Amino acid sequence: MDFNLTPEQQAVQQRARQFAQEEVAPLARETDESGVFPLHLVRRMGELGFLTPTVPTTYAGSGMDHLSFALIYEELGQADSSVRGFLAVHGSLVANCINDWGTEQQKRQYLPYLATGEMIGCYCLTEPNAGSDAASIETTAREDGDDYVLNGEKIWITNGNIAHIAIVFASIDREQRHRGICAFLVPTDTPGFIREKMPGKELGHRSSDHAHITFDECRVPKSALLGEVGGGFKVAMSALDHGRLGVAAGALGVAQACLDACIDFTRKRRQFGKRIADMQMIQATLADMAADVQAARLLVYHAAWMKQQGLPTTKETSMAKLFATEAAVKAASEAVLIHGGRGYSNEFPVERYYRDIKGLQIYEGTSHIQRIVIARELVGRE
Ligand code: CAA
Repeated sequence: MDFNLTPEQQAVQQRARQFAQEEVAPLARETDESGVFPLHLVRRMGELGFLTPTVPTTYAGSGMDHLSFALIYEELGQADSSVRGFLAVHGSLVANCINDWGTEQQKRQYLPYLATGEMIGCYCLTEPNAGSDAASIETTAREDGDDYVLNGEKIWITNGNIAHIAIVFASIDREQRHRGICAFLVPTDTPGFIREKMPGKELGHRSSDHAHITFDECRVPKSALLGEVGGGFKVAMSALDHGRLGVAAGALGVAQACLDACIDFTRKRRQFGKRIADMQMIQATLADMAADVQAARLLVYHAAWMKQQGLPTTKETSMAKLFATEAAVKAASEAVLIHGGRGYSNEFPVERYYRDIKGLQIYEGTSHIQRIVIARELVGRE
């Protein structure tokens, strides 16, 4: 077993770290307060090869391995979950999905532009009545000559208001549940594709763009089908296999950022005449956090390594997402506590980590759903 990163992986990690710390982290507090996504970073991520890291170079991707992909997400997760979240949708759910399921024509039409950031992607699965139970979506696709006509509603669509291309899941026959679902590539300027900002103010990911999308007689040609007729649920789930690994790596980044912040703070902060780092209860917290971070890292890197070997990774990806997000939620909570009153204000970034991390525990499948996925892989189904 060789746990060393290759020189190429180290170079990717270094490039991602430099970008995350020098160009992303300094903006995070301001964009969290303004609620405006730093769109200029998208083209920059394109220049760095981070938008479609594992897509082959034939389609202008970076042709990286899956561990390099995880390293990029980990570094960005340390800096800003809103930026990392953008990437998880654009790169993992959309670009990887087109790469897996697209026709040659679809790949050539979209992947090179997604690689540079000239096009932004969003993934439209969640609906008001279909969150965890993704197969119960109510959006319909009606066949009409050479077209399909989409009608329905999607919510919580990350990048929805800034995207140029959407992967939309809709049913041609709701009686058939998941076997009636189709995936469509829909340009967001198609008539009948109506989008607006989600109502309310989010707990975290405040600079992420979250859209409410309505399809009102939205007509797309049959060539917009991604995958087979009735194969849309598999397309959705396989995309989530990519996306969840990215979320797991992002959560690992948040947990590492919490640990780093706590080490720094507890060495400087003095109470009762000594560094709080020298107090046993603080030390126990730091030690547990460090063990969790390392365990999460091993799960994430192992799932990425398996993916690179072409092995099935649904279970390992869910394990990585479950463990890394739960560990990061705990780390963020402890980090705020350790920082005391300072941790309760946005004077220190741990306050943002604490709010942001809750989102990672929910999106791309809640912790409950990850447990269902893992358990089904273990015991099968009757
Ligand atoms: N890859 C390929 N195929 C898969 C698969 C996978 N990972 N998982 C399941 N399938 C296939 C099954 O093999 C089965 O195929 P057959 O028809 O051949 O039998 C089919 O899909 C149905 O599978 P299930 O019976 O397991 O389906 P289910 O209805 O019981 O649901 C579930 C399973 C895991 C609970 C699924 O509904 C799920 O993942 N729910 C969570 C949804 C989710 O993560 N939503 C996140 C939205 S996206 C987002 O958050 C992005 C954003 O914008 C922030």
